[in-house]
Amino acid sequence: MKTSSKILIGAGVAVVALAVIYRAVNIAPDKDAAVSEQMLQVIGDGGCVDCHTSEPNLPFYSTWPIAKTLIAKHIEDGCKAFDIEPMIASLQNGEPVGEVDLAKVEKTVLDGSMPLAQYYLVHWGSSLTKAKQAAMLEGIRTLRAEYYPNPLACAEFVNEPIRPIPDSVPYDPAKAELGKVLYNDTRLSADGTISCASCHAIETYGVDNKRYSEGINGQLGGVNAPTSFNAVFNFVQFWDGRAATLAEQAGGPPLNPVEMGSKDFEEIAARIAQDKVFTKRFVAVYPEGLSQETITDAIAEYEKTLVTPNCPFDRYLKGDAQAMTAEQVEGYEIFKDYSCATCHCGVNMGGLSYELMGKRANYFEDRELTLKSGLTDGDNGRWAQTGVERDRYRFKTPTLRNVAMTWPYYHDGSVETLEQAISMMSTYQVGRKMSEDKVAKVKAFLEAQTAELPAE
Ligand code: HEC
Ligand code: HEC
Ligand code: HEC
Repeated sequence: MKTSSKILIGAGVAVVALAVIYRAVNIAPDKDAAVSEQMLQVIGDGGCVDCHTSEPNLPFYSTWPIAKTLIAKHIEDGCKAFDIEPMIASLQNGEPVGEVDLAKVEKTVLDGSMPLAQYYLVHWGSSLTKAKQAAMLEGIRTLRAEYYPNPLACAEFVNEPIRPIPDSVPYDPAKAELGKVLYNDTRLSADGTISCASCHAIETYGVDNKRYSEGINGQLGGVNAPTSFNAVFNFVQFWDGRAATLAEQAGGPPLNPVEMGSKDFEEIAARIAQDKVFTKRFVAVYPEGLSQETITDAIAEYEKTLVTPNCPFDRYLKGDAQAMTAEQVEGYEIFKDYSCATCHCGVNMGGLSYELMGKRANYFEDRELTLKSGLTDGDNGRWAQTGVERDRYRFKTPTLRNVAMTWPYYHDGSVETLEQAISMMSTYQVGRKMSEDKVAKVKAFLEAQTAELPAE
């Protein structure tokens, strides 16, 4: 036999052998198993947990044959970006998997970006084959339908990462009536000058359009005021998540020395109690009388009415193809392509997770250079509550509902225009430079989030 034919046969044998090995190690999940089982198998095979836990487990890679240092960096970056352990635990226990986790994993499967090539070249069998991808996507679709039902969307859009805002959320009208008065009531503040509405006015979409809000005696706060609109859909309140509920949140500002400066709720209750007419109305609904518990409960009931359904984008999701312009529809596609709809997903397009600000580039270093503004307490984010180093610079993702009306942007209020906010997100959170043309389209799409003001 000629050498060339020997080489040919040898190459043929090698290809067949590789194909056999490839098939043997890339076992598709069992189609009859529950979707959560199938997803767990793909995640297990994919080695996802090696690079996506809260703390990188670096020693294990030292046994790897090649590319050690390169992989070490990937493990650290992966762990910083995404913790898959809560998702695995939920799949194992049959509990709801986080909506953001579903959106993030779906996006990486659609992109074919995980696990990284450097990893599956070493770990045979970890690559996501077509069958594994299909199992993951089907699993995500099923879990979404189960845990995040989307009755308002038309058939085409039931599995979108963003869901329309419901027309209303259940609330107690009598309590909300009282809450509305209290929301606009300057008697909550020590000197009778500031109400919730001073910083979260209804006419300006629940914000004050200032970098930092002005509290009593002209004092400035340390972070930008997020909107009170649709806050009922947030998983926690405040940038650092320090309030679990709206009522708990409403207990904060009245006693905050920089905001409303009251000593305690007894003082507030005593002030309001001088108003016999209102107090009578109040006691008719809350027989236990004026207290922190009842005052904040009433305000929270009122805030449930501050939802903004039926913006153009929501009407589009519900099946009105004309509700958005062609540019806005294109903007939505770019929004998804650039992974914006992973963190900014769900009913509120955000408000569902804490995310690292500056995942792909150092936001705070750059801010220091461009704006000469050094680190502040407000920059610490979630860390202020947990003291866990991993939580530093992590913030509750803000909602993008009505975002065109709620400038300035970011927790530090340092970004004045929506274009800038979009373009910087792409750089710092996604790691892709977005062209001006695309930024304009995404901006048009975000303008389609502006709804009518809530009916008073
Ligand atoms: C070798 C390490 C490695 C493995 C294995 C790996 N990843 Fe990743 N993953 C990364 C890195 C690095 C990034 C990008 C980090 C960044 O955004 O800066 C990433 C990003 C992600 C993101 C995006 C996170 C975000 O915040 O948007 C998801 C989701 C993800 N990976 C899921 C998976 C899944 C699912 C698997 C298993 C099939 C997997 N990864 C396997 C290293 C890894
Ligand atoms: C002086 C201005 C000011 C006043 C008065 C004020 N707030 Fe705020 N509000 C803010 C700022 C600033 C934040 C963000 C603080 C943070 O995250 O640490 C905030 C946060 C919130 C949030 C959380 C939104 C989110 O997405 O996390 C809600 C809800 C809210 N305020 C409602 C109220 C209510 C109700 C009142 C009256 C009881 C009130 N605020 C009084 C400035 C103010
Ligand atoms: C990894 C999660 C993540 C991704 C991906 C992401 N964002 Fe954000 N987004 C955040 C967080 C966290 C903030 C708050 C940052 C801060 O306050 O410092 C934010 C803030 C914003 C704001 C300002 C909102 C406000 O009221 O202050 C806009 C606008 C925005 N994002 C748009 C986008 C766009 C467009 C994309 C895609 C190019 C995107 N985001 C991708 C997490 C993310």
